[in-house]
Parts: sequence; structure tokens; C-alpha cells
Amino acid sequence: ASSEQSQLISLYDQAAKLYTHVLLNTEMGQPALDYLHKRGLTDDIINKFQLGFAPGEQLLKEFFDEKKVDYQLLRRSGLFIEDQQGKLRDRFFGRVMYAIKNPQGHVIAFSGRVLNKADSQAKYINSPETKIFNKGNVLYNFDLARSAIRQEKRAILFEGFMDVIAAYQSGVMNGIASMGTSFTNEQIYLLQRTTAQLDICYDGDDPGQAAINRALDAFSANSRLQLSVIEVPNKLDPDEYVRQYGEKQFSEIVHSARLTPTAFKLDYLKRDFNLSNEADQLSYLEGALKEISKLTSSVEQDLYLNQLAKEFGVQVQDLRQQLRQVHSQQA
Ligand code: GTP
Ligand code: MN
Ligand code: MN
Ligand code: MN
Ligand code: MN
Repeated sequence: ASSEQSQLISLYDQAAKLYTHVLLNTEMGQPALDYLHKRGLTDDIINKFQLGFAPGEQLLKEFFDEKKVDYQLLRRSGLFIEDQQGKLRDRFFGRVMYAIKNPQGHVIAFSGRVLNKADSQAKYINSPETKIFNKGNVLYNFDLARSAIRQEKRAILFEGFMDVIAAYQSGVMNGIASMGTSFTNEQIYLLQRTTAQLDICYDGDDPGQAAINRALDAFSANSRLQLSVIEVPNKLDPDEYVRQYGEKQFSEIVHSARLTPTAFKLDYLKRDFNLSNEADQLSYLEGALKEISKLTSSVEQDLYLNQLAKEFGVQVQDLRQQLRQVHSQQA
């Protein structure tokens, strides 16, 4: 008898194939297929990422019952919800299915997105943790991205699955995502074995920018990764940017619009101030100097001091002087 792990992997493999089949080849999958086509995905990409559709409530249950799959295994698979009487029902229905894979490319979980979001529903629901799925270990798309990450010597971290997929379709194939959670040490370890450089490309909206700010702090505290930020203009998701501005322009911002963590932070800090007001300018400069004081390279420090001096029409010597005070306050 094979281990529970390999039995579960086989179940998820069958489920993924069924969901993809329903999406691409059936009447009930048509609305979901239209939805994905409208979002710009080709059938090739749908196959590559094993996207699918979970229709009515009992598709999977009936499918596995017909194959006489063991009830206890089904119970532990996470693919079903168990009622009081121990009866199993499909966990996912009426959702577009994203296959979550391990680094070997085996499906180990799903995330399901509602087709038309109503307020009462969660946009995404994920598989529960099982013997083969630990949410904190997953790097979405790592199986496909790994060779591109090695080649480019960098990985790009996106917020959402659709961002990863849209980037991949644009030829930006080194994209990964977490499951909407902050990064664990396991994910950092996996990444650091493959690359030394991580570009963070979250959504351009306010929550996305706040998440970049937090991620920079977390990665610099917990990893050795060299970080940079790719900002998506006009508050767009990377996926929305690709659709509005095209693959070529997206690939251009990915390759050329990289900010250092300090440049991002100096810009981000501006949200807290009204810079047409002099008192606020001074407070901003104070905060900016605090950020610059964290840099260990004096060349880098000088770069940002010169920028600030130019921007605010002050003497760079004065800023340098003030930076020494920040240093001595911190000592
Ligand atoms: P689309 O609307 O399909 O483009 O999704 P998105 O990826 O742009 O979603 P969003 O920016 O709102 O969220 C980013 C990521 O957070 C998603 O890809 C999910 O991983 C996660 N997430 C968002 N909403 C939910 C939710 O309701 N439940 C859970 N568990 N995760 C979510
Ligand atoms: Mn269509
Ligand atoms: Mn978002
Ligand atoms: Mn989106
Ligand atoms: Mn998003």
C-alpha cells in the first residue's frame, strides 16, 4: 500500500484534472471559461497552470465514490466538508479553481475564487491544511518559476495568483506568490536556496503599498535576500497593468523600474506629511534621515542625502550634520 501522502497527491491530481476538464470542455464550465478569457487568459495558460472550475455541489464526491475511494481517505483529504452525520460534501463549488503545487509540480491544494463576488462571500477560499499541504510552505508557481529564477538570478514576489499568471503569460516567468499570508522562514529558506535577490511587486493600491512597506522590514530582518521594489503605476494590480498597457510595457517596468528599499521608504514616508507646509517638511526630513541612517554604506547615504538636498533646497552639509545627530541619538 502506498503512503497516505502519495494517496492524497493522487486524489488532488485527479481532482485538478477533473476541474480543468469541466472548465475547458463542458457546458457548466462555460461561464467560468468566459470569465477567464475575459481576464485575458489563453487555453494554453489555463492548462499550464491547471486552472479549473468546481461546479455543482457534489461533482467530486460522486466522482470518487464511483471509483470506490476509501471514505477515511476522502475525509482527511480536505476536499470535502463533513456534516454532523459524517456525510461528505464538496468543499468547493461555483468557484474558479487555482491548483496549488509543491516544488515538484504536484497539486497539493486548491484556492477557489468566486465568479461574481457578492459581499457575503470570501473572494478566495483555500484548502485546509493536510498531510501534504502546509500553507506557510507554499510558494505559488515555484515549480514552473524555478528555472527562470535561476536564469534571471532573481525572483519576483506578487500578491495574487492572477498576477503571477499574467506575468508568466507576458514572458516574466520568475514570479511567485504566497497564499495571501506573510512570509515564513520555510518560504524564505526555499527561496534563498535558489536566489539571492527578491523583487517585490505588489498591487499598486494603498493596501499593496502598505504591504510592501511591511514586507521590506520583515525580509530585511529575517532573510539575507537583496531586496528591491517594482512599483505598478496608477494603483493597478500587475495583472490589471498587463491588460491595460500590454505585455511589453509590463516587462519593461519589471526590468527597469526597480527601486531600492530606501528609495521606496523615502517615498512611502511622504504619505504622512503635507509637504507644502514647512513644519511638515522638517518632520519629513527627520524621518527620512532616520531611514538613511540605517544604511551601512556611506556612499549610499550620500546618494540619498544629495537627492533630499536637491528636492528640498537645503545644503547637503546641513543634512550630513543632522544625520550625525541622528546617529548619536541612536548610539
Ligand atoms: P483578483 O480579484 O482575482 O484579481 O484577486 P487578487 O489576487 O487581485 O486579490 P487581492 O489583491 O484582493 O488579494 C491578494 C491575495 O490575497 C489573493 O491572491 C489571495 O491569496 C489573498 N486573498 C484575497 N482575498 C482573500 C479571501 O477572501 N480569503 C483568503 N483566504 N485569501 C484572500
Ligand atoms: Mn470565451
Ligand atoms: Mn490587493
Ligand atoms: Mn487582481
Ligand atoms: Mn490584487
